[in-house]
Amino acid sequence: MLRNSQHSYGVLARAFHWLSAIAVLGALFCIEINDFFPRGSAERLQLLLWHIDAGLLTALLLVPRLLWRLGNRPPQITPAPQPLFQLLAHAGHWALYGLMLALPLFGVLAQQAAGKPVALFGVAVPALLAPMPEYRHLLREIHELLGNLMIAALALHVAAAVWHHRFLRDNTLTRLIGPLR
Ligand code: HEM
Ligand code: HEM
Repeated sequence: MLRNSQHSYGVLARAFHWLSAIAVLGALFCIEINDFFPRGSAERLQLLLWHIDAGLLTALLLVPRLLWRLGNRPPQITPAPQPLFQLLAHAGHWALYGLMLALPLFGVLAQQAAGKPVALFGVAVPALLAPMPEYRHLLREIHELLGNLMIAALALHVAAAVWHHRFLRDNTLTRLIGPLR
């Protein structure tokens, strides 16, 4: 139940997947609707703080998630996809994990380089960098580039899940949202 079985993801892997999904999508939502509010407004600042909270939660969840993932093999897909597609899916998942770590990291570095302290729900994040105003634009640009990569990777990820379910008619999606077996 708690662990993955041969045929479906267990409770803990599902919880990690959907909690991280909410955190990543929440971070993206808060920052994308930011533009509807004028610079310097209280709403814009609040959305940035929520963006940062959701982003830091993503990184925090990643540690136990990866430890659990390493000791707990994902269930099989039936019928099994071709080896090339299995390899691509594997690479795609590790790219998502990499982005879930790199995005918050560059977010923190960009803020700290600009001399702005970062906090998670009011608790200060230790300084990884002394203020370096000359690098803040570069770090912000890297963060935004990674953010756009995340959006592209997620679009592919969701499209692949729908493709498996609707067209290949295998159990890729039901392993994650179907009954626990
Ligand atoms: C509506 C949204 C989503 C759907 C329908 C969905 C669906 C799925 C499915 C079906 C799998 C299993 C694939 C497999 O084992 O081959 C999966 C795995 C995965 N998903 Fe999502 N997902 C969604 C959102 C997200 C989001 C927002 C993220 C975070 C960036 C994410 C990250 C991952 C990762 C890293 C895995 C690999 C799990 C593993 O290591 O076994 N997903 N997702
Ligand atoms: C899952 C984690 C995260 C994702 C997916 C993400 C994504 C993004 C994206 C896509 C943008 C660009 C929005 C635009 O095009 O205008 C952005 C901007 C930004 N992010 Fe993140 N981010 C994450 C975590 C963080 C963290 C942890 C911090 C800080 C500690 C942070 C700080 C910022 C800042 C300061 C901006 C610029 C906001 C502005 O221009 O008003 N992000 N982020």
